[in-house]
Amino acid sequence: MRKILDIARRASASEPERRQRFVYETDDERATVASALRALNERSPLLDADGVPAEPIRWECSCLQKKCGACAMVIDGVPRLACDVRLAQLRREVVRVDPLRKFPLVADLMVDRSAVFARLNELQTWLDEQVELPQRRSEVAYEGSRCLQCGCCLEVCPNFAVEGGFGGMAAMVPLSRLLAEATPADRKRLARAYRAGVYGGCGTSLACRNICPAGIDISGLMARSNAAAVWRRW
Ligand code: SF4
Ligand code: SF4
Ligand code: FES
Repeated sequence: MRKILDIARRASASEPERRQRFVYETDDERATVASALRALNERSPLLDADGVPAEPIRWECSCLQKKCGACAMVIDGVPRLACDVRLAQLRREVVRVDPLRKFPLVADLMVDRSAVFARLNELQTWLDEQVELPQRRSEVAYEGSRCLQCGCCLEVCPNFAVEGGFGGMAAMVPLSRLLAEATPADRKRLARAYRAGVYGGCGTSLACRNICPAGIDISGLMARSNAAAVWRRW
């Protein structure tokens, strides 16, 4: 299999963006965009498709198993996890790779997603009291625990901006978990946070509905959490 990775390059946010192409060939049908980026960076020297020496491609990864969310980027126009996208599944030979555009750029494909975690902190996304989780709420809590904070849902959301107060689905999903787990005292505080940080800002366009790489049932969780935090039907 032969692919050409067409990558957005910038050493820092203050530089103009340019594109650089790299040829990657492999017999491995399971090769992903992440494994291609790793293999390219292992080349010494790294040459682009025109044979020009190139700087290593800056990007982030950790688990390489769709568990950490670090490798989120835009692949052929869709925000996805690089370790989750097999090259063999991409129809065209040229694969366009861009950083998430909603977040401040660090370099190349690496962005600063600290705003996502800061928002969770502002919304006090934690429990103050220890709970024994009743069985009937455990499924919702489990679904809400699967969020990777990757930011893919925020990338497609027309209402999310790093500097705004709306936390998007990256805030809704963990809050849903906590709303399912909380004692009545915690639930009151979390419901307030949900109304201010999620419900008040969401336009319910559901652009984010099918984008989650963890496959979280976003609309189902949102319906449950709206019932719990807005309509007070526990
Ligand atoms: S439903 Fe629409 S406005 Fe709400 S979080 Fe999803 S994309 Fe954003
Ligand atoms: S809800 Fe899904 S897409 Fe959004 S941050 Fe969590 S894991 Fe990523
Ligand atoms: S490296 Fe952890 S999700 Fe891709």
